Amino acid sequence: MEKIYLTTPIYYVNDIPHIGHAYNILATDTLARYWRKKLGRENVFFLTGTDENSQKTVDAAAAKDQEIYEYLEDMSKNWKTTWEQIGIDFDDFIRTTEARHVDTVNKIFNTINKNGDIYKGKYEGLYCTGCEAFKKETDLDEEGNCPDHKKAPEMLSEDNYFFRLSKYEKPLLELFENNLLLPEKRRNEMVSFIKGGLEDVSISRESAEFGIELPIDKKHKIYVWFDALINYYSAVRQDGREDFWNYVNHIIGKDISKFHTIIWPAMLLSAGIVPPKSVFAHGFFTVDGTKMSKTLGNVISPLELSDKFGNDALRVGLLSSFEFGNDGDFSFRNFEELYRTKLAGGVGNLFNRVIVLIHKFKDGKKDITDYSAHEKSLKQFNAFLKDKKIKSAIDHFFATVDQCNQLMNETEVWKLAKTDPEAAKEIFGKLLGYLEFIANMAEILLPESYPKMKAMLGDEEKVGEAVILFERVE
Ligand code: MSP
Repeated sequence: MEKIYLTTPIYYVNDIPHIGHAYNILATDTLARYWRKKLGRENVFFLTGTDENSQKTVDAAAAKDQEIYEYLEDMSKNWKTTWEQIGIDFDDFIRTTEARHVDTVNKIFNTINKNGDIYKGKYEGLYCTGCEAFKKETDLDEEGNCPDHKKAPEMLSEDNYFFRLSKYEKPLLELFENNLLLPEKRRNEMVSFIKGGLEDVSISRESAEFGIELPIDKKHKIYVWFDALINYYSAVRQDGREDFWNYVNHIIGKDISKFHTIIWPAMLLSAGIVPPKSVFAHGFFTVDGTKMSKTLGNVISPLELSDKFGNDALRVGLLSSFEFGNDGDFSFRNFEELYRTKLAGGVGNLFNRVIVLIHKFKDGKKDITDYSAHEKSLKQFNAFLKDKKIKSAIDHFFATVDQCNQLMNETEVWKLAKTDPEAAKEIFGKLLGYLEFIANMAEILLPESYPKMKAMLGDEEKVGEAVILFERVE
């Protein structure tokens, strides 16, 4: 039986979620819904969680004058409930401070060490806490700052334990030949990076205040990325979930491709564990043409949008702005336009009108539901989602809504029902067929509206009550 294991990155808890993170998890959730429909819920496993063993945690807790574990409780709960509120249906939420994870990290570290891939050395160089990553001079901007965090990295000089990444150049290149990473352009970037020569990487920090202790030297903490990546494996080491490991698909942002497609597979190869089957790196988006940043004060919470427009609008608005895998822009004007014309005026209005007409002219009775015309279109829709072309799937959905609206308007079924009831009966059957098909796609794309659509479609005999799917928003 085919299975799939989908993961999001685990999020840092030094701040609350913004729509960049929401974009990432909504895309993954949409793919999970597609696969659940195809393979059944028991064959899909969807994991998310929080990345907690970071210096960022220590600094953020201190800034709030809170004890670290108390801070972590509050923040991981904040992330988890935000995702629940925006309609993310994950199967498990992992925290890197949990015992099941710490235990797995220890086991994997010990195996890698036993296999001779860990050694002690001296690290001298730059470190950016914002990225939780070691930096080279060539990574910095003209002012010597980290380009992502606009801050000068610190100079570190300390004893570190290293992982023999350099040993894995060849097997990694083989994985890339087998499509480890998509889209293509991201793969090419990583392949040329590896061909430029891999250096061993430091995987412990002597000066770190918080984190998982290095099993072989308690003065050291495990480097946060070495620990964090293992979360994906920790979550399936229980409850008969082990088998999911062979079907893992990591959905990540392009900024963390090196960690996921170079360091992570090498760690697994060293530990004798099957490397990930596939990694997909999506792009970044700006908001109205500007990068979201705290200093600019344009960071948007997903809850702000979902409170006002609902979860389906948030999902479809973010995921239809540009194709998954590309970079793009999220524009408020386009978002409001989409809400007004495609959701409220499009699909919402369509359902309402058809159901009202069937009540009016047929007493709610469903004579026929003609679904036959949609098999090919459904195949196309499914093919888009299988290829992770989420925007194309959404466009296909709205194009179907338009076709259905067109059928209703061109046939003027509300007039036909008075002049030629037999002909109207056939059109109503076709319209119901469209609505069934639209609801079918909405189960994946508009999960909040889906139950209301199903209720409107009623049972075998009669349609249900007409309701408003998307309220007017001022
Ligand atoms: N903790 C690490 C991941 C560890 S996974 C083992 C991390 N966390 S993060 O919270 O900073 O980012 C989580 C995800 O959100 C990343 O995939 C990142 O690419 C994504 N995004 C953050 N801002 C984004 C946008 N503006 N646009 C699209 N994705 C964005 O990295």
